[in-house]
Amino acid sequence: MWFGRCGSVVGVSVAAQAVGLTKIYGQGDARVVALDDVDFEVHTGEFTAIMGPSGSGKSTLMHLLAALDTPTSGSVRIGDVDVATLKDTPLTELRRDRIGFIFQAFNLVPTLTARENITLPVSIAGKRVDQEWFDRIIGVLALGDRLTHKPAELSGGQQQRVACARALMNRPDIVFGDEPTGNLDSTSAAEVLSFLRRSVDEFGQTVVMVTHDAHAASYADRAVFLSDGKVVDELRGATQDDLLHAMARIYPRHDEPSTSSEVTESDDRNDSGTPTPADEDPAVLYRDGGTAPQHMGEPADEATVEISMPRRAVQD
Ligand SMILES: Nc1ncnc2c1ncn2[C@@H]1O[C@H](COP(=O)(O)OP(=O)(O)OP(=O)(O)O)[C@@H](O)[C@H]1O
Ligand SMILES: [Mg+2]
Repeated sequence: MWFGRCGSVVGVSVAAQAVGLTKIYGQGDARVVALDDVDFEVHTGEFTAIMGPSGSGKSTLMHLLAALDTPTSGSVRIGDVDVATLKDTPLTELRRDRIGFIFQAFNLVPTLTARENITLPVSIAGKRVDQEWFDRIIGVLALGDRLTHKPAELSGGQQQRVACARALMNRPDIVFGDEPTGNLDSTSAAEVLSFLRRSVDEFGQTVVMVTHDAHAASYADRAVFLSDGKVVDELRGATQDDLLHAMARIYPRHDEPSTSSEVTESDDRNDSGTPTPADEDPAVLYRDGGTAPQHMGEPADEATVEISMPRRAVQD
């Protein structure tokens, strides 16, 4: 069994820590407090889900914890390193060597084969590919017969499995996923979620996954709920039902009709298509949407997804 550099799984070892984390975008009328004085710890060897409605600050928190962005105030530690103390090169090295990323839109390099995409972080770091580790990941992800294919020749689920392999290739301390199953059908989503679960159970991997979806979050050990840029609750070992009930309690219905075109019936269903309390109980409405509700078919149009963060995460 492999363990990350942050320490052993025994007890509560902290892989990443946010203290008083605040992120404010814009000024004046355009000012948005995306994160509001958040204290948060990622525990080593755990699978943590960050949940919340669209705009609650999930991606912002993930980007800050993954050293992809800088806070307005507060601090982030990854292992024992205060990210703010790092200059450009050590920061790039930290992201490259100690963090793995999986994004909703896969973000593979279209001109490279699956194998080349998977080994890209190792190549950029100028290291040799650990063939045993490569074979093990490829075996678990069942990608062996797809390694010479380019992303356009792969299904969405296969592309995301390639992205999972790439994220683990450098044996990072933490793997971050932002809605990694948001573009996948339920079968492909289950494959990715099972892989993340196995990476925690079998490799001792630490995983942090942003999701709006109770089914996806039920694979995690711990679900943390955000609302309006604050951590408002958390559950451990929760089933999908537990999570749905918690969501109904934490994010109650807004009685007035929504003005957002993003809040549609399909937004109230999880990746498995299972009816949620929003379907069963008209008193519950999850104000989710944003980047999440594409459950089937092709990846989102590149113009509609965050490009700069994935580029920084993988190619910097
Ligand atoms: N670059 C930016 N400039 C201005 N405001 C931003 C920026 N990025 C995020 N925000 C705002 O910060 C808030 C939190 O955004 P964030 O992307 O973290 O939400 P989220 O919970 O990930 O939502 P979603 O589920 O839709 O992805 C939102 O109000 C958003 O509009
Ligand atoms: Mg987001």
